[in-house]
Amino acid sequence: MPLADLLGDTAQAAITYLDSARKRRVDAVATCAEIVRRLPERLPEQGEAPREVLHRMIDDFDDGLVTSTGGRFYGWVVGGSHPVAVAADWLTSAWDQLATMPDSSPAAAAAERVSLSWLLDLLGLPSSASAAFVTGAQMANFTGLAAARHAVLSAAGWDVERDGLFGAPRITVLAGRERHITIDGALRYLGLGSGCVTPVDVDDQGRVEPDAFASLLAQVDGPLIVCLGAGNVNTGAFDPFTELIPLARQRDAWVHIDGAFGLWAAASPMCRELTRGAELADSWAVDLHKWLNVPYDSAVVAVRDRQAHAAALGVVANYVASPGDDVVQFHLAPEFSRRARAFPAYATLRSLGRTGVAALVDRCCALAREAAALLDDIPGVTVCNDVVLNQVLVRFADPEATARILAAVRAGGEAFLTASAWQGQPVMRVAVSNWQTTSEDIARMAAAVRQAVQT
Ligand SMILES: Cc1ncc(COP(=O)(O)O)c(C=O)c1O
Repeated sequence: MPLADLLGDTAQAAITYLDSARKRRVDAVATCAEIVRRLPERLPEQGEAPREVLHRMIDDFDDGLVTSTGGRFYGWVVGGSHPVAVAADWLTSAWDQLATMPDSSPAAAAAERVSLSWLLDLLGLPSSASAAFVTGAQMANFTGLAAARHAVLSAAGWDVERDGLFGAPRITVLAGRERHITIDGALRYLGLGSGCVTPVDVDDQGRVEPDAFASLLAQVDGPLIVCLGAGNVNTGAFDPFTELIPLARQRDAWVHIDGAFGLWAAASPMCRELTRGAELADSWAVDLHKWLNVPYDSAVVAVRDRQAHAAALGVVANYVASPGDDVVQFHLAPEFSRRARAFPAYATLRSLGRTGVAALVDRCCALAREAAALLDDIPGVTVCNDVVLNQVLVRFADPEATARILAAVRAGGEAFLTASAWQGQPVMRVAVSNWQTTSEDIARMAAAVRQAVQT
């Protein structure tokens, strides 16, 4: 079976799918259980021709696909892949590089080095920081907090990499009550336990209250890590970094910022003010698969203290380079063997340029404001956050209506929205983070919500 036929066919199927994304219904038709029933229960004894397998896959899976890559998907915070990112991702698979070290792929290492340096610049982070590609903000938070754990324990005279946590000085973590759950996950993986978090009170947008923060700072002693957020997952709000970080500094705390999607605001001259002071932190997490619109899974962690970063993550083996030999990515990320995630990031950054990334962020924010205005106009619908970024939170007159309205909109196929809870009440969330979304898409979504509210 000629390679050109297999890959050519597959490219054609991918093009057909992506071309249809504007028109397709957004939610899937088939359920997971229905699809499983179509597939062989047991691994076939004899293999099948690759082309046949691919065609069957398309038939079997197509109606179970959620068109999250299209412009009418507003669930969670899922950016649809940019065409240049998809194309570069195809090359990444075809090239199949081991991005572990420059020796295993000079090309992947070069793409990483250049795109990481572009990203630090674009996001207003120190150019001297060390940075690495990881799979998502969960692992970026994990990696930043691993460096934090190293640094605060090392300052207390404890070598956590050698001696682990048994008998170690206790670390306190201060984080807002509305922090993302992946902060707690990272703290669990690091052996600190989510119980090490002292939650800090937040305001009505989910931002850490400086007075509450200062008063807790005065009460804790010992090694301290502070976790702040750039872009609350519900409201899009930013913690007041310029007030909080200098206070944390006085206590020699390590400050980590979860900026999974919100840190992209720094790339836009119009939104940058929201991130003011973020550059004062010690480590940062940002997703590329969200607002840079590259395919899953791609994120970056950056750490101001290169030595703490490498000390926390670096490993030594007699058959690979040692920490310090070069900028070797496996000393900075949890994975050892790694996909060359930098290629799609490099291609997307180069294709959009600085102004293109800013325009993507600005367009999504403008569309979120349009969505808020249209939704707020529907009787019985209230927008309950300040729409400062790309997130819109909507409350319905009757709290029980949220699930019914979401289900009706999804069943209609016009838009895909997800539920959340805000201040103890069920809400609907609209996240705009796709390069394709247009005003017309937003109007279709709002019309679908209006219809669901009125029936
Ligand atoms: C603020 C925030 N932090 C962390 C995450 C986790 O990101 P990922 O799913 O890429 O691990 C998300 C995902 O929505 C998020 O919004």
